[in-house]
Amino acid sequence: MTAAIPLSAPDVTEDEIAVVVAVLRTRQLSLGPELAAFESELAAYHGVEHAVAVSSGTAGLHLALQTLGIGAGDEVVVPSFTFVAVANTVLQVGATPVFAEIDPRTLNLDAAAVERAITPRTRALVVVHTFGVPARMDALLEVARRHDLRVIEDACEAIGAHFDGRRAGSFGDLAVLGFYPNKQMTTGEGGAVLGREAAYAARLRRLRNQGRDADADWLDHAEPGYNYRLSELACALGRAQLRRIDSMLALRREAAGRYDALLAAIPGLERPPRALPRSETSWFVYVVRLPEGVDRDGVRAALARQGIATGRYFAPIHQQPAWRGRGPAPHLPLTESIARRTLALPFFNRITSEEQQYVTEALRAALASAAR
Ligand SMILES: Cc1ncc(COP(=O)(O)O)c(C=O)c1O
Repeated sequence: MTAAIPLSAPDVTEDEIAVVVAVLRTRQLSLGPELAAFESELAAYHGVEHAVAVSSGTAGLHLALQTLGIGAGDEVVVPSFTFVAVANTVLQVGATPVFAEIDPRTLNLDAAAVERAITPRTRALVVVHTFGVPARMDALLEVARRHDLRVIEDACEAIGAHFDGRRAGSFGDLAVLGFYPNKQMTTGEGGAVLGREAAYAARLRRLRNQGRDADADWLDHAEPGYNYRLSELACALGRAQLRRIDSMLALRREAAGRYDALLAAIPGLERPPRALPRSETSWFVYVVRLPEGVDRDGVRAALARQGIATGRYFAPIHQQPAWRGRGPAPHLPLTESIARRTLALPFFNRITSEEQQYVTEALRAALASAAR
């Protein structure tokens, strides 16, 4: 049966469709006014000087690492409990990702574990705000300062989250956003890099556009670059989505609150943290942890038979077939035990109470039969 309740769903209005169509009529489909406006609106929203829009979150991570001068011989501390692009892009600039353990509550890099992972070759951290829960930026920035490390925030899952009253994406040397359709706001495909330094912004723009300097001739390339541009259509959609991001985040917060109330009655089920000190979550996904020993694949299959899509969120990177055998296996018992039990439930702006009740009942039944 195909899933009747999807895991995620973009929220695109008729007005937003009209905005994209209007761009098509202008005939300027790349590197135009929508890009410039989207970038300045993203920067303003985050309280940073610069935003550089790119074709994906992955492209943003790649450019951020390269712009900070991370390369061959360098080590970069990253979580394993995250999306694979975080480690892939470190490899793609010729550096080595070093996996560090997470905090079991926030599921973000643990500052003490980061410190243990540091060697004389460590140059940077990629701090992911996992599932929209802000990382403990005070502790992580303190470790980075003491060891003279650059910090890239991966805020792909966390637009609008706050730590100590500041938005995720405003703490690092550079920060990356992602706008894939499962995200809180979307441009279809897309992403952005945020930062405070003009020199970084200029380098990011040059690398994104085949190594061309601003105002250079189309066939003059100052350095080898990429085509990581974001189209005018995507930027126009992004601007419209950003205008209502706070109301979209409020819908997601309400949906998370409803799941919380419904799922509280299921014994042994661990719900995501609702209130963390000094933090405000931007709800990306709603991920529960099943009781130890439950056959998660069996539960997923039972839910799928009821038309309910779920996700594993996350399968640790170091356990992926593509990553096994790359040096000694890291010791990440928390990452591994948490990742065995996680289950992402359907979660999107317009999910209804009835759909959430249906998911809850199906999960309750699946867990009851798994316990038999
Ligand atoms: C934490 C994290 N980093 C990076 C990415 C990559 O973003 P994209 O899919 O836009 O390349 C994603 C999302 O997919 C993500 O969740």
